[in-house]
Amino acid sequence: MQILFKNIKSLLQTRGENVKKVAGQDMHQLPKIDQAFLLIKDGLIESFGEMDHCPKPSDTKIIDVSGQMILPSWCDSHTHIVYAGNREGEFIDRINGLTYEEIAKKGGGILNSAKKLQNTSESDLYTQSKTRLEEVIKLGTGAIEIKSGYGLTKEAELKMLRVIKQLKSAYNIPIKATFLAAHALPQAFKNNKSAFLDLMIKDVLPTVAKEKLAEYIDVFCEKGYFSVEDTERVMQAGIQLGLTPKIHVNQFNAIGGVNACVKHNARSVDHLEVILNEDIEALKGSNTMPVALPACSYFLGIPYTPAKEIISAGLPLALASDYNPGSSPTGNMNFVVSAACIKMKMTPEAAINAATINGAYAMDLSDKVGSITPGKIANLIITKPIPSYGMLPYAFGSNLIDQVYVAGKLIS
Ligand code: NIG
Ligand code: FE
Repeated sequence: MQILFKNIKSLLQTRGENVKKVAGQDMHQLPKIDQAFLLIKDGLIESFGEMDHCPKPSDTKIIDVSGQMILPSWCDSHTHIVYAGNREGEFIDRINGLTYEEIAKKGGGILNSAKKLQNTSESDLYTQSKTRLEEVIKLGTGAIEIKSGYGLTKEAELKMLRVIKQLKSAYNIPIKATFLAAHALPQAFKNNKSAFLDLMIKDVLPTVAKEKLAEYIDVFCEKGYFSVEDTERVMQAGIQLGLTPKIHVNQFNAIGGVNACVKHNARSVDHLEVILNEDIEALKGSNTMPVALPACSYFLGIPYTPAKEIISAGLPLALASDYNPGSSPTGNMNFVVSAACIKMKMTPEAAINAATINGAYAMDLSDKVGSITPGKIANLIITKPIPSYGMLPYAFGSNLIDQVYVAGKLIS
């Protein structure tokens, strides 16, 4: 089955297959073709070009999208969409003056979500999670990473990862799973962090690896949570069993985690609201993608990741939603791209690169998604009629998506 989109006002993010990520000043370039066609076949991108060279294939559905733009779907490389219930009560506590850290200290935060998750059945958890996944697919997300980490017991962590596995087989966008082995210390291990890490490393991790429940391993590397030493221990254990590190680091404090992650060839270092010169130096020349989560900064009122500093150092940057009940109760990548431009002063070109090709790289999916490239999956966003692509981040509260395609099929 073939579909031919014709009269595309601008076809955005057209790239050769050699481009796996973009970095530094290249982030400010967004390749595009005006007055374009796009041919998709059997769910994949077949060819594209200027309307002057538009083919006239037989047996093809032709869709005229005059005035509208097409871009590759968002690649959201950091989410926690498998969770139980919400934390709107803590939201009110924060409005009334408590900080994220103060709420966590009195048993709220991650521990609150863990209690809810432990008491939720696998099928109920699946139902709640699939609602969120369907929501973000309609908002243009065409590839996603999902973490465990709200279980904190063997049973509950495996429950989360099995729900992710079920989502993988039920939906046809690429989904990557991360075992977030050390997210918070449960009450039962209050004075015995190493016993908790033992449990996660020696008992849970081997099951995760054996049942192929995750591609990545994660730690919340932060003061009051897990140290750089703890993070290295978990990363090493994960690597031994074939999992790649993808780490929460530098959210509130820079404690040296970035350097440790780079040394362990982490696929990404995520958050980076606080970043030191030495962190930037460590990332130079590495394979590790820095990932910013502006919806988290917005919701918690904490600093934004200094995108300009990172990009002007020649580094790449990806954007992700961090969709979770505590620090970013949204998975709307359109908002994330807007917030990156408005609050982090990213150019629209840089933000779109960060939310597509660089997001794909942060999930090892650059070969499949993240750009308009022959052979990649036809996961597409068709915009409403817009005068220029700058409208996408500019009109931050409007929904400018007309249609979404996943593997060449219209999502309704
Ligand atoms: O990425 N920072 C750690 N983990 C999540 C938030 C967890 C929560 O508050 O539930 C994050 O922001
Ligand atoms: Fe997170």
